[in-house]
Amino acid sequence: MRVERVNFGSKLGIILATAGSAVGLGNVWRFPYMTGENGGAVFIIAYVVCILLLGIPGMVGEFIVGRHSQANAARAYASISSHRWWGFVGLLGIVTSSIILGFYAVVAGWCLHYLGVSIVGGLKGDTEAITAYFQQYSADPVKPAFMGIVFILITHFVIVRGVQRGIEKASKVLMPLLFLLLLVIVAASCSLPGAFQGVEFLFRPDFSKLSSRVFLEALGQAFFSLSLGTACLCTYASYFSRHTNLLRAASQIAFVDCLIAVLAGLMIFPAAFSVGVQPDSGPSLIFITLPNVFQQAFAAMPVVGQVISVMFYALLVFAALTSTISMHEIGTAFFHEELHLQRRHAAWIVTVACCVLSVFCSLSVGGFGGLQVMGMSLMDFCDFLTAQVMLPLGALLTSVLLGWFVRSRVLHDEFTNWGTLRGLWFPVYKFGVRYVVPICILLILMHLFGVI
Ligand code: PHE
Repeated sequence: MRVERVNFGSKLGIILATAGSAVGLGNVWRFPYMTGENGGAVFIIAYVVCILLLGIPGMVGEFIVGRHSQANAARAYASISSHRWWGFVGLLGIVTSSIILGFYAVVAGWCLHYLGVSIVGGLKGDTEAITAYFQQYSADPVKPAFMGIVFILITHFVIVRGVQRGIEKASKVLMPLLFLLLLVIVAASCSLPGAFQGVEFLFRPDFSKLSSRVFLEALGQAFFSLSLGTACLCTYASYFSRHTNLLRAASQIAFVDCLIAVLAGLMIFPAAFSVGVQPDSGPSLIFITLPNVFQQAFAAMPVVGQVISVMFYALLVFAALTSTISMHEIGTAFFHEELHLQRRHAAWIVTVACCVLSVFCSLSVGGFGGLQVMGMSLMDFCDFLTAQVMLPLGALLTSVLLGWFVRSRVLHDEFTNWGTLRGLWFPVYKFGVRYVVPICILLILMHLFGVI
């Protein structure tokens, strides 16, 4: 059954929507704290290697599956192969993206709260006061959980009302605005006293910090940030036109995604070193460092500081929303098409499931520290499980499918837009998807599970 789904109006709109899925809290929240915990510059090098070697071929792979099949994730994987079994890869993607939505909404809810607080000018005081504020807020059992639910409900209503055109139009303005604002905050952060140490931390590699853990985390971060391995890209690619150059689109999105992540690093670390916040202070990093930047860098003009802080959190919420929409859309499209439910009913299934998970995740870092799995809070466990196991697994299975079980002709047609592009990179891509991507991911997963 072909059903009406989200529809993006223009070519630019499709690419922007896909970039909107990629650019989000993964870049501005997760990347800086991962970099901080994994030794700075060496992590960035490992991250870029993972993007080039595994990320871009992985993206092209998901694009091929989606555009070839033009269906929801599960059906897309089943229809490009000759065995229905492969539909499970799409299902795995749907489960993965729903788990991500559960914990991602908690952080998005924190951003929403910080937006409200910065509007009323409540983020004031010295570093200790700001740190204590975050700790107190995130440890509250009710407020953050409530905000997470609010965020999922906003996503729900966008999905149901199909205002994707609005989102698409807004993306065209807000994405460049986010970029400009990042530049302003980077400049402000780098102008703080002692900021240079932060720049050094980001760009001067200390190879003694390189370890297998750095590579594991970099791989997870690269996949998380590109929305790879969840079938999100596959679902969006099912709306691509026959003229979209898949390799070019993947490279452009990966480039923008990396650029925003590095800018976010440049925004956080100089300020963190300047105000004496440890770079490895984990998920709270941006919530503690940024209010300091807004206050200190603009001490002479507090109103400007406040306006920039409001704009920043507003744009962060928007960037998070374009990502949560993509996570939600995969499950909604699946239930809508496969269970023949109305779109709004299908959306409620995803919303309710994700709200429940989100509340438990929020409680696990808040009031109920006992909610632990394998020695981690439920929230950290969901992050670990998705970024380091499920996303690489999804990407591994996709590349095995494309490299070994789909006819080369199909790949070539999609890669070259049915012979209208020269396809100079096709042999490289084919080799990558057959050998490089599966072998690298397999080795990394085997290492993770202690097999090697
Ligand atoms: N890539 C998004 C980000 O960086 C997160 C995401 C992961 C979105 C998986 C969709 C699927 O914030």
